Parts: sequence; structure tokens; C-alpha cells
Amino acid sequence: MTQITSSVLDKESSNRKELTKKGRVKLENISVNYKTRGNLVTAIENTSIEIEPGEFVCLLGPSGCGKSTLLNCVAGFVKPNSGQITVDGELIKQPGPDRGMVFQQYSLYPWKTVIENIAFGPKVTGRGSQSPETTANHFLEMIGLTKYAKHYPNELSGGMQQRVGIARALANYPRVLLMDEPFGALDSQTRLIMQENLLRLWREFGTTVIFVTHDVDEAVFLSDRIIVMSSNPGRVIKDIKINLERPRNTNTTTSTRFVELRKICLDLIRDESLKVFESQKI
Ligand SMILES: Nc1ncnc2c1ncn2[C@@H]1O[C@H](COP(=O)(O)OP(=O)(O)OP(=O)(O)O)[C@@H](O)[C@H]1O
Ligand SMILES: [Mg+2]
Repeated sequence: MTQITSSVLDKESSNRKELTKKGRVKLENISVNYKTRGNLVTAIENTSIEIEPGEFVCLLGPSGCGKSTLLNCVAGFVKPNSGQITVDGELIKQPGPDRGMVFQQYSLYPWKTVIENIAFGPKVTGRGSQSPETTANHFLEMIGLTKYAKHYPNELSGGMQQRVGIARALANYPRVLLMDEPFGALDSQTRLIMQENLLRLWREFGTTVIFVTHDVDEAVFLSDRIIVMSSNPGRVIKDIKINLERPRNTNTTTSTRFVELRKICLDLIRDESLKVFESQKI
């Protein structure tokens, strides 16, 4: 798979740094309830998290602990019942181009070509110092898919579609990139390459990333910090600093510290998953 070209990154990163020097995300006492069939589900209870500009944070936790809900609150798709979320001090009230989102299911516009998908955001928002087409071409080159500019999403593999999804989100120069299990549907080899590519993009852009995953190895490999959540109700149970050297590569995963951190996370997740499993019996 093509690696990201660094000359393109250099150009785009200076562009990005001009546009978005920020990205401090602050969640203060967030609670989210859903009403289903007359029952009230507390998806998140009284949760506070502060994320530094440019930090790469993974949300890790068992199914149903509120990871997607939390991400959707930052995106502005879900409104918390109480508490508030700010990005650089601005209250989040609705979705906006300053927060890019990448989902597990490749959510490209099927009727638009690859290049049109990437150019769509810059066209609508007018963000970026160049024309939408020029911006889209830079990002296309960056993800190594120039040859596929005129293809439609259904003509691409899952990994390729997800690269386009990431390029589409970055083309708006977001302050925060929100990723909900973006590599969950990919085979393990493609997934590893995507993780390295994402780290490279992130290092150059300095965008704050909030990344949801079930996968402990993925979380340890990518993050500066892992926020472990538990369910019923969803809340933060541990905030773990991942003090592994960067840049990270395949050697990272065999280091002693990686193995230690992985074990800490696995034990926490195992305990939480067992609790969920038991609570679902009755
Ligand atoms: N739209 C909704 N309506 C009702 N309940 C919901 C809705 N979305 C989520 N929930 C409930 O809120 C809780 C948290 O769900 P959420 O999808 O945020 O968890 P998650 O950690 O992302 O799970 P997974 O790892 O399976 O994706 C769950 O109990 C879920 O059933
Ligand atoms: Mg989810």
C-alpha cells in the first residue's frame, strides 16, 4: 500500500498550522440519557475529560459503555442532558467543520467520485487557502490514491475508502478529528498500515484526535493517553498516559513498556467486560 508523501505533508501541515493552532476539548460533567421503550438508559454519567490541543486520545471500553455517545456529543450530533462541551472555549451546540468525523462504516457519498468527496467540505465551508480542487488533490496525493481520483467509492476496497474518509475529514482542516472505530472493518494487515499512516498524518498536522476502539493493541500503539470507560452507566474509570517514544513503528509493539501497558489495559477491560456480561444475564 502506498505510503503518504512527505512533500505534500509539508505543504499541507504549514497550511493546517495557520488555520488550526488549537483543539482543546473540554467535557464538563456530561450526562446523556436515552429513552427507549419507556426506559431511561444512562449512556454517560457525570463525566469530565480535558484533552490538550494536538493530543491523541483513545477511548477504550466494553461494548455499550458510551464511547460512540461521547464522540457524538463532541461532534454535536447528540446533545448532553446536562453538562457542557467546549472546543477552545466555544460551546458545542451543533456539528461543524472544525470537528471532522470518520466512522467505522465508510460513509462516503456514493454518487460522488473520490476527488469530489474530498473537495466537498472545502467547497461548502470555504476553509483552506487554495481552491477546493487543489486542496482535494493535495489530500488525495497524501493518502496515495491519486490514480483513483475519478473512481466511485464502490470501486474501492474498504481500506481505500477509509483513506478517502480520512482525507475528506482532514480537507476541512479540523481542530479535532473524531474517529469511531475507523479501522474496525479492515483486515489486520491493512489495519496496521492504516495506523502508521494515521500517526504520520497526525504528527504533521498536529490535530487533536479522539479515537474510539475496542482494540487494546491499537489504543496503546496510537495514543498519548487512553481513557478507559466502564458501562452501566458509562463513565471514566482510568486515564492512562502512554509514554512510548514516537515515531512508533512495528518495533514499538515488542518493547517491554508496550507489553506492560497492554497488560494494564487488558486487565481493566477484561474486568469491565465480565461485569457487563454478568449484568446482562438477569
Ligand atoms: N440512539 C439510542 N437510543 C437509545 N439508546 C441508545 C442509543 N444510542 C446508544 N444507546 C445506548 O447507550 C449506551 C451506550 O451506547 P454507545 O453506542 O455509546 O456505546 P459504545 O461504547 O459505542 O458501544 P460499542 O462498543 O458497541 O460501539 C448503550 O446502552 C446503548 O444501548
Ligand atoms: Mg460505538
